[in-house]
Amino acid sequence: MVKFANRIQPCDNGLNDIFSYANDPALISFAAGYPNNQLFPQTELQGAFNSSLTDNINLQYSGAAGLLSLRTKIAQHISSQQRTFTAAEILLTQGAQQGLDLTAKLLLNPGDGVVVEAPTYLGALSAFDAYEPTYYEVPLHDDGLDLNALQKILLTHSVKFIYTIPDFQNPTGSTLSLAKRQALLRLAARYDVIILEDSPYRDLRFSGQSLPSLASLDTQNLVISLGSFSKILAPGLRLGWLVATPQLLAPLTELKLGNDVQSSTLIMNAVDQYLDHHDLSAHITKMNHAYAAKMTTMCAALKHYLPTAVTFTQPSGGFFIYLTLPASVDTGQLLKRVVLPQAKVAYVPSASLFPVSHQANGIRLNFTNLDNSTIELGVKRLGEILTRALTQPHYAKL
Ligand SMILES: Cc1ncc(COP(=O)(O)O)c(C=O)c1O
Repeated sequence: MVKFANRIQPCDNGLNDIFSYANDPALISFAAGYPNNQLFPQTELQGAFNSSLTDNINLQYSGAAGLLSLRTKIAQHISSQQRTFTAAEILLTQGAQQGLDLTAKLLLNPGDGVVVEAPTYLGALSAFDAYEPTYYEVPLHDDGLDLNALQKILLTHSVKFIYTIPDFQNPTGSTLSLAKRQALLRLAARYDVIILEDSPYRDLRFSGQSLPSLASLDTQNLVISLGSFSKILAPGLRLGWLVATPQLLAPLTELKLGNDVQSSTLIMNAVDQYLDHHDLSAHITKMNHAYAAKMTTMCAALKHYLPTAVTFTQPSGGFFIYLTLPASVDTGQLLKRVVLPQAKVAYVPSASLFPVSHQANGIRLNFTNLDNSTIELGVKRLGEILTRALTQPHYAKL
């Protein structure tokens, strides 16, 4: 019998049940956080890859930091009124996911404190878990982290980094307000804690003004910031970036070398070529129109079909809407026993998104990967089953 390391926990995040229904054509899944296939700029990327393959240098190794010309373009993309970034501050990664792993690898000894939003992104917990941290949960409001709760934690515990998804958070869709961004940076400076800013949804704003990134407001070199092409181009590229001060970037680049030597030269070059010949901002605007319509459809359907005991968030961008049910409901059990078999609808139940409290009465819904009529039908089925479930006393124990 193979003995796994002690840190490897049995995987029971409630998602396995969804996979067992994955091939059922009647299933409507709001579970995955996928971009919409129809919106990938496939022809343009095909041209970019073809063009990359005409030069054999693009099949060669090219260095752990990633292609300079692509890093330069990313630096321009993330530069703003607040701050100009340079290629020297950027490391190209295999998606934002690798940035999560590299940061945890650099900073964490077993037992070290990590603050996370409650709820948070499951994939981040998977990355951090390998380094055996002690998690501290901070509640989330519509305008982001509860900073009073955060301060109490920082006063009483030693914390290595604060993990935050400030823009259109996964799973709640909440966005950290400007005032809270500034206050968070002040707190981090006072308690000398790194902030890990993870913002793959940042450009996917459907309404309102974009807020400055934490990295752009940081004057103390305390922010490591992650971005990604996954949601704005295509996740199959597995290409993202990490922004940090040179003192942090050098050891992170060493760790990247040990992980996978470098990101794919071919893919980095193809994305660079895409950016040379196409307007990424125009592509993002097109996506935002399509996603905004899907979110509006989902919100209208939720308003219409959900029982009043269930509340939901109404984000101004991103991929997700979060539902909160009465505290007695376990949405994992509800999914497995009632919603999947009877309504053939899938969602992400919340328990595994809270690493300490395992609060089980939340549901994450994705709206980007289905057409409007399927969104409406899925929400109708979900709303009807929740209405029945919540009015029958024995379901409340689920
Ligand atoms: C908050 C957050 N961070 C990181 C990732 C990983 O993205 P990538 O495909 O860039 O690795 C995701 C993917 O869903 C995410 O939601």
